[in-house]
Amino acid sequence: MTKNGPANEPAPWVEEALRRRTHELGERVKELNCLYAIYHLSEKRDISVDEILAGACELIPPAWQYPEITCGRITYLGRVFESRGCRETPWRQAAPIFVQGARAGSVEVFYLEEMPDIDEGPFLKEERSLINAMAEQLALLIERVLTEEALRDSERKLHALSQQVIAAQEAERARLSRELHDDLGHQLAALRLELDWLIKKHSGATAAQDLAAIMDMVSTATAQLRRICKGIRPMIPDYMGLGLAMEALVEDFRAHSGANIELDIRPAECAPFDPDIAINLYRILQETLTNIARHAGASRVVIRFGESHGVLALDVEDDGIGMNAPDSAGTQGLGIAGMRERAALCGGSVAIESRPGGGARVQVRIPAPQSPAAG
Ligand SMILES: Nc1ncnc2c1ncn2[C@@H]1O[C@H](COP(=O)(O)OP(=O)(O)O)[C@@H](O)[C@H]1O
Ligand SMILES: [Mg+2]
Repeated sequence: MTKNGPANEPAPWVEEALRRRTHELGERVKELNCLYAIYHLSEKRDISVDEILAGACELIPPAWQYPEITCGRITYLGRVFESRGCRETPWRQAAPIFVQGARAGSVEVFYLEEMPDIDEGPFLKEERSLINAMAEQLALLIERVLTEEALRDSERKLHALSQQVIAAQEAERARLSRELHDDLGHQLAALRLELDWLIKKHSGATAAQDLAAIMDMVSTATAQLRRICKGIRPMIPDYMGLGLAMEALVEDFRAHSGANIELDIRPAECAPFDPDIAINLYRILQETLTNIARHAGASRVVIRFGESHGVLALDVEDDGIGMNAPDSAGTQGLGIAGMRERAALCGGSVAIESRPGGGARVQVRIPAPQSPAAG
């Protein structure tokens, strides 16, 4: 047998079958590439529905049998996306796009020239499967994007709402505190003057004693009222700087907690500044100290507050029992969630580092307001 003899050459029908198979395989690869490309579109984050559909149109021509004379069009809720140079012709294949159970659009493929009939007009049966798969994949993608958008939207609304609640709460507290202080406070003051006068007027020992006892009660009520007003709305911007208010808060905490407390507030920050930032920082410290008193069982607490490089920094560190997954803390309790909202309200954030048995460290960072002199 000779090496290159006709017996070694494939018969023409084999060659033809091989050529056809190779061509068919090439077509399947093109179809798969199209589906992969849609899949890759889905991996892009923050991609819009319009961007997906515009991108998908361009995937159509190369995936069909005759790329040079094929164009794609996708319609979705009245918006039309087309591959370059697309126009409507009689040689058309289409599949509907169903989004959330309703027909929302379609995928269409056109041949710009007449081609011989095969399975579905000039289109292959595999191309029917492909256009259906494209329409289904696009529908799933659109549904996902819509769900993500709705989620982001409701998160934004929730965020705005909780900030409004915080602002309304502060305004209401301020009003309540003012009314208690002004109305009830003045009435108590008037009562004291009246009692004073009565004590002087009645020289009888028992009456004077009784009146003095009433005077004591009124004095106690006055002191209590002052404390309540201060708790409801500390007079931060009005009378003293944030630093002094923080010191008073820490003093109060020291008196009740029994922990060893180190406080470092740099004097520059004691000057009054933006009342919104002041009240929010004050409330964040208040909640942090309440949490330490309530949950930490700490023996040592370090509190630092100051400004550096245009950032207001409040750090509170305790050596208590610590907690698991501090970043998710605040998803249940309202305290930490409120701290985060208040910081966000001032353009800042709260980070909590902690592990069980290792204490906790709360770090608040807020951009310092521009001082008028610097601006
Ligand atoms: N300093 C801390 N040390 C240990 N655990 C803490 C500390 N601060 C907060 N936690 C934990 O985080 C949880 C959430 O706190 P918070 O949102 O303020 O809600 P609440 O105080 O109402 O429970 C607390 O229940 C507590 O388990
Ligand atoms: Mg709390």
